Amino acid sequence: MSGEWQNPLPLQGWFLVTQSRALGCGAVLGIDLPNTPLVVYRTAAGVVRAVAAHCPHMGTHLRNATVEGETLRCPLHHWQWTADAANPPENDIRCLAGYPVQEACDGVWIFNQSAVAENKSPGFPAVPSRKLHFRHGRPVFLRCPWQAVVANAFDLNHFETVHERALLGVPEIEDQGESLEFRYNSQTTGQSFPDRVMRKLSGNRIEVTIRCWHGSVLMIQTKTQQRETFLWLNFLPVDGGTLVKPIYAVTCGGLPGASALRLRNSAWLFQAFLRKDISILDQMKFAPTVSEQEDPYFNAYLRFIKRQAAQIQP
Ligand code: FES
Ligand SMILES: [Fe+2]
Repeated sequence: MSGEWQNPLPLQGWFLVTQSRALGCGAVLGIDLPNTPLVVYRTAAGVVRAVAAHCPHMGTHLRNATVEGETLRCPLHHWQWTADAANPPENDIRCLAGYPVQEACDGVWIFNQSAVAENKSPGFPAVPSRKLHFRHGRPVFLRCPWQAVVANAFDLNHFETVHERALLGVPEIEDQGESLEFRYNSQTTGQSFPDRVMRKLSGNRIEVTIRCWHGSVLMIQTKTQQRETFLWLNFLPVDGGTLVKPIYAVTCGGLPGASALRLRNSAWLFQAFLRKDISILDQMKFAPTVSEQEDPYFNAYLRFIKRQAAQIQP
C-alpha cells in the first residue's frame, strides 16, 4: 500500500526560478518546471512574464527570443508575442497563454499551470507586510521524491530523535485548502554549539509556524522573545530526486548592519538544523506507515498532498 509514495507525486505549485535582480529588463530565461518547459522574461516596463517555451508558429525554443518593449520576438521568423491577455494585441502582435508570476522574497516565482492565470490567484506568497531582509541560499539536491522531503516538516516524532527538540504543549494543524498550516512550540534539548546558541537566544521557547502551499513551497517562521526569522523552501522535482532551494529572512531594523548580522546568524542556525535531515533523507524510499493515532499531523499532511495531486489539471 505504501509503495504508492515512492515515486514523485505530480506537483503543481509555485516554483522559484531566479532571484529578481538576476532578471533585468530585456532578460529571457529558459526554465523547466514539472511537465512545463517555459521561458520567463522581463519587459521594458519591468513586468515579469512567463510563457510556454516553444513558439506556436513552428516550435522554436523561445529562450533565444528578444524582448521588444512589452513583447517577445521569436528568433526564427520574428513573430512578436505578448502574454498580456488584459491588453489585446495590436497589429501583428499575437497573444500567448501566460503562466502566473509573482515576485516575492527577492525572487521570481512561477505557477506551472497556465489556466490558473485566468481563474484565480493560487495562494502564494504570504510574505509578512513588515519589511524583511532576504538571502537566497545554495540549493541542495536530495535523491528522494519531493513528498518525502516536505513530509519531514510534519514528522513530529523525528524532532526529538534527530533535532533534539522537545515539544511544549499541543501542536495545531489546519488544512486551508491550498495550504496546510502547522503550529507548535518547542525547546532545544541538544548540547551542540548551535543548540546552545539557540537556547540562549530563544529563552528556550520557540514558536514555530510552518505553512505548505500546494506541496512545492514551505514557509517556516520561528518566533522567540526577541527575534522573528523566516525560511522559505522550494522543492523542484528533477531527474533522480528533488532540488531544495532555501531563502532566509529576518525583519529589518535596529542599528546599521544589525539585520544583516541577524540574517547571517539565522541562516547559520537554520542550516545547522536542516543539515541533520539531509543525510537521512538522501536515498529514502518513502513508505509511510504511520497510523492516525501515532501521528495525526503527519497523516493530515499525507491527505493534503494526496488531494493536491488529485486536483491537478492536465
Ligand atoms: S517559429 Fe517562431 S516565428 Fe516562426
Ligand atoms: Fe527534520
